[in-house]
Amino acid sequence: MRNSDQLLASFENYLAQTEFPADPELLYAPIAYSLSGGGKRIRPLLLLLAAGLFADDAPGALPAAAAVEVFHNFTLLHDDIMDNAAVRRGKPSVYARWGQNVAILSGDAMMISAYRLLGGVPAPLLPRVLEVFNAMALEVCEGQQYDMDFESRAKVSVVDYMHMIELKTSALLAGPTVIGALVGGAPEEDCRLLRRFAVELGLAFQLQDDLLDSYGDERLGKAIGGDILEGKQTYLMVTAMSRADEAGREVLRRTHRDESLTDAGKIAAVKALYDRLDIPRLTEQQIRLRFDRALATLDSLSVDAARTAPLRDFAAGLMGRNR
Ligand code: IPE
Ligand code: IPE
Ligand code: MG
Ligand code: MG
Ligand code: MG
Repeated sequence: MRNSDQLLASFENYLAQTEFPADPELLYAPIAYSLSGGGKRIRPLLLLLAAGLFADDAPGALPAAAAVEVFHNFTLLHDDIMDNAAVRRGKPSVYARWGQNVAILSGDAMMISAYRLLGGVPAPLLPRVLEVFNAMALEVCEGQQYDMDFESRAKVSVVDYMHMIELKTSALLAGPTVIGALVGGAPEEDCRLLRRFAVELGLAFQLQDDLLDSYGDERLGKAIGGDILEGKQTYLMVTAMSRADEAGREVLRRTHRDESLTDAGKIAAVKALYDRLDIPRLTEQQIRLRFDRALATLDSLSVDAARTAPLRDFAAGLMGRNR
């Protein structure tokens, strides 16, 4: 049984051996830039940790882990175009550095590369793994479209919001976790429980990402306040809208478009209202609730409780995140 540091080392070693051609440079250089750019490797680690619950060195686990990480990085290339985000992992996003066309096409090549890597899964398991991977990929697209739709929708409920992040974020944690369980040889019921675990963890993770987008610091590696400036419907925003009076709701609706304010002024105005409405504490409470639910599902797995320790430690580390 290996812990997440050991798994991370074997993953990095595997990924470093995955070669991309040198030319055309504008297709492949952004891929190398993205994959070596300091991501937390959450999704491949979830896959390897889930596999490790059932088997040591499950065949196909490393290529599948590389596939999900390459796929995740592809989603970020396109997400940064869609969110107009110039900073990613403390550096210019691919979109900011090379422009939109490069980010689209390099992203496409990454998605195809992810499928190529998935071909390293043993043949008898491949149909099932592909089914999980494809369902995940479509869910992410659905979630990303809802995320866009919500920017211009007058009213987004907390339920709408939670559904959207279950698609855009939890899906990309649940897919790898279930694929890890499958390559590890998990029984059906454990696959179901691990999906539940990852969905709840993904919700906690996205809520925390929303909180850090407004209340984090430069260690997050993204421009703080980006969600406020984009008029995003985040957990903070939808909760604030449900608690504010009409005057407050007007501030929340209008501030990001107010041309008399600087960016810093817009961020300060919205955060002042969030603070008054107790939004950071309410968000933290919801993060805790989702995280506890995630961990509780692990209690019912058929494996020896001691085997779940690396996965529990990893999930806890993720929630203490500052990047
Ligand atoms: C960013 O994911 C997208 C979200 C779901 C918030 P990560 O925070 O896992 O991105 P990296 O790969 O570690 O940079
Ligand atoms: C990203 O959500 C989800 C996907 C990329 C699929 P965000 O837009 O909140 O992620 P960040 O904050 O840019 O990392
Ligand atoms: Mg986005
Ligand atoms: Mg984004
Ligand atoms: Mg975000």
